[in-house]
Amino acid sequence: MPKTIAILTSGGDSPGMNAAIRAATMVAVAKGHRVLGVRQGYRGLLEGELVPMGADQVNEILREGGTILHSARCRRFHDVASRDQAREVLTQRGVDGLIVIGGNGSLTGLTLLSDPNEAGDWPVRCIGIPASIDNDIALTGLAIGVDTAMNTIVEACDRIADTASAHDRTFIIEVMGRDCGYLAMTSAIASGANMVLFPEASRTEEELVSSIVKTILTVRERHRENQKVVAIKAEGVPTPTERLKSLVDAKLAEVTGEDHEDIETRVTVLGHVVRGGRPTAFDRLLGSRLGNVAVRAALEGEHRKMVSWLPPMDLPEGVGSRSTADPYCYLVDLPAVLAATKLLLEGQSPLARWRATAFDDLEDVFLL
Ligand code: F6P
Repeated sequence: MPKTIAILTSGGDSPGMNAAIRAATMVAVAKGHRVLGVRQGYRGLLEGELVPMGADQVNEILREGGTILHSARCRRFHDVASRDQAREVLTQRGVDGLIVIGGNGSLTGLTLLSDPNEAGDWPVRCIGIPASIDNDIALTGLAIGVDTAMNTIVEACDRIADTASAHDRTFIIEVMGRDCGYLAMTSAIASGANMVLFPEASRTEEELVSSIVKTILTVRERHRENQKVVAIKAEGVPTPTERLKSLVDAKLAEVTGEDHEDIETRVTVLGHVVRGGRPTAFDRLLGSRLGNVAVRAALEGEHRKMVSWLPPMDLPEGVGSRSTADPYCYLVDLPAVLAATKLLLEGQSPLARWRATAFDDLEDVFLL
């Protein structure tokens, strides 16, 4: 008996979402099922904006950034009444399974929508796919969009490094990551930056300034030929980047006296540039594979699960199992994902503790 699968993208878009939409649609259609695309995330769901999807709608979208379904951050979804309305819309449209592609907020919405205390025995099967350039979702090794964002940052850093070298300048480059420094950390390694500043390290403003000044002075002492310094700073570090630059300039003036005018600092905030663009081959692959596993899970009656990609740590007992459709993917209990994500963002999980200290030993290595 043909089933109806609805697909929705929500929260900050991320490159590779379209690959997931495409794969889920094509697998469902190939198996004789019907697919509806929900436009504009949970907001569109409340307004009944569900449109039929088929091969024609998804054929060319694999290489496109953003999301063809559009996205939104929907505050109204925090109210039970709105979620009642959403369940009503899905029931009326005959939906059997709902796939939500998004980050922590979007998966929280899906967990509430499917909460048996609220939804009773509502039959719609709910499956989440992690998509967030920040990689701030627990129990998955990667979320859709992280690889593209990292490549964009590395390309930008390479360009900035050219001009920084030419002028022997210091650049503080701010990258996205509201609650999580993952992108800053990995792109610092991949771009060969001199240092990385991220919220998990919990450094005071004074410590941040001192570490940048120490790096600048060390580089200038060690390298006569090229005195550029690139520091990558996560958006989530509480000190605003322009303020950090001013404090660094003031400290340099204090410690170097008259020479400080030779040491120039500049700031580049990459902002939303990091979130756009065509997905890398890896994000196309990741989106496609997670989309494939998600739609099969929904059709097989799995419920309140997130499809995860190679979790970085062993999953807690009873929380998830390897997908039978793809050995790189796991189906993980959705409420457990949210609980672990909370701990990750509060710095309380083993992974968070590792991330916080992973660079402690490396500070001097980065300086070489
Ligand atoms: O999607 C996550 C994220 O990119 C964060 O890194 C950033 O702080 C936030 O979204 C920006 O959101 P918005 O586009 O709604 O301003």
